[in-house]
Amino acid sequence: MKVTIKGHKDQEISKIDPRIYGSFVEHLGRAVYEGIYEPGHPTANELGFRQDVIDAVNELNVPLVRYPGGNFVSGYNWEDGIGPRKDRPKRLDLAWRSVETNEVGLHEFMDWANQAGTEVNMAVNLGTRGADAARNLVEYSNHPGGTYWSDLRKENGAEEPFAIKTWCLGNEMDGPWQIGAKTAEEYGRLATETAKVMKLVDDSIELVLCGSSGSKMPTFGEWEYTVLEHAYDEVDYLSLHLYWQNFENDLPNYLAKSVEMDQFIKNVASICDAVKAKKGSEKTINLSFDEWNVWYHSTEADAKREPWDIAPPLLEDIYNFEDALLVGCGLITLLNNSDRVKIACLAQLVNVIAPIMTIKDGELWKQPTFYPFMQASNFGRGKVLDLRLDSPTYDSDEYKNVPYLESTAVLNEDEKEIVIFAVNRSEKDSMEVESIIEGFEGLSIIEATELADYDPKQTTQEKHDSMKIKENATFKTDGATVEGSFKPLSWNMVRLSYN
Ligand code: AHR
Repeated sequence: MKVTIKGHKDQEISKIDPRIYGSFVEHLGRAVYEGIYEPGHPTANELGFRQDVIDAVNELNVPLVRYPGGNFVSGYNWEDGIGPRKDRPKRLDLAWRSVETNEVGLHEFMDWANQAGTEVNMAVNLGTRGADAARNLVEYSNHPGGTYWSDLRKENGAEEPFAIKTWCLGNEMDGPWQIGAKTAEEYGRLATETAKVMKLVDDSIELVLCGSSGSKMPTFGEWEYTVLEHAYDEVDYLSLHLYWQNFENDLPNYLAKSVEMDQFIKNVASICDAVKAKKGSEKTINLSFDEWNVWYHSTEADAKREPWDIAPPLLEDIYNFEDALLVGCGLITLLNNSDRVKIACLAQLVNVIAPIMTIKDGELWKQPTFYPFMQASNFGRGKVLDLRLDSPTYDSDEYKNVPYLESTAVLNEDEKEIVIFAVNRSEKDSMEVESIIEGFEGLSIIEATELADYDPKQTTQEKHDSMKIKENATFKTDGATVEGSFKPLSWNMVRLSYN
């Protein structure tokens, strides 16, 4: 199969907001306890955080982490997680039917985020609570001092404000499973009034309004339009959530699912713009894809669990190579929509549908999905170029005209680099690639790598180092044109420098 990738230095989609490489830590399963926090673990630091996890998060170069949920936040009292640990209540977490010890709360998570070099995207509870608890949390976190809540923060050990910039107005409020789920009208009003008081406390914050919890929700579209009609002037982003499954074990169809992600983004952006037009607003609402990933391997096991354990092993999907390819397609899709998607969070980060897994008292291991995320996050910084691809296509069970090649190119002017990311969806055919990106001189190859040659079902659960990014030696350049080959079922990265 032959493919040409064409582009020009001056034709770009957008500057990339680094927060597109965000992730998510929820009080769910072993994400917090036994995940980021395990005092007594051989690598635990003075605060009880696993240093091996922090090192792996650093390898992923995650600029933003959403916290503390997810479904969990809709029943959470943030005040339970502050003050002396001995006084903190143990509570039933109704979202995941577990027991929450509150050993880790706001201060501890902010400490962890500092140590991990990441920013926090804080969600407020709009399920069982509302504007009052939310404005108090903003005052506690961001106000310098001299008021009840800000002075309490100081008493609890944080002299300086946490300065949390990005906030989510609840979580998946359209979902019948959500604690305190609402109609679009109810949520639109509540989110507007909550946003108002939060911004009155600190007008530098940015707010994410809940969109639908999936594009297949019966209220999708109508929900977005209604909540935006209410909250447009008060908020900055609208959220999207998407989880992929391959219950049918249909690989061509599974790998095509990122096409649906692309359409979902474009549809939601259109709805935002329709409300903008109707209101005659100057402001554009951008998108926060604040939950996306594969999630289905653990569903059956989770359904069999008894409730009320502390940190039970929930949502521990064991990912395989085909999942890594689809996550790669997802990353490329987010980059190609970086004109509208400014925040995205791979859900989640540790143990719960995660690229990083930990063993209690033991080692950490990386899932196959770790590798595409790591490469995109480290090298996909700068601007996305607007490419022209002439890939052959296929039809799958659900999707028509799916390109075998999913690709994007990122221009990093600081480093004088162009980085091509690509997935070859074909199970049989290699892809002979010719890339012509005009406007650059003296191209040379820094490195060409691939994640390839694995069985689609191969995992890293038993042999933790059994999947590796390898060199792709086929790539060469004459200084203007770049040529090489992408193997069947492969994730690829080609880094080029220019003069
Ligand atoms: O990420 C797991 C769960 O998926 C989140 O708690 C929820 O928001 C979504 O349904």
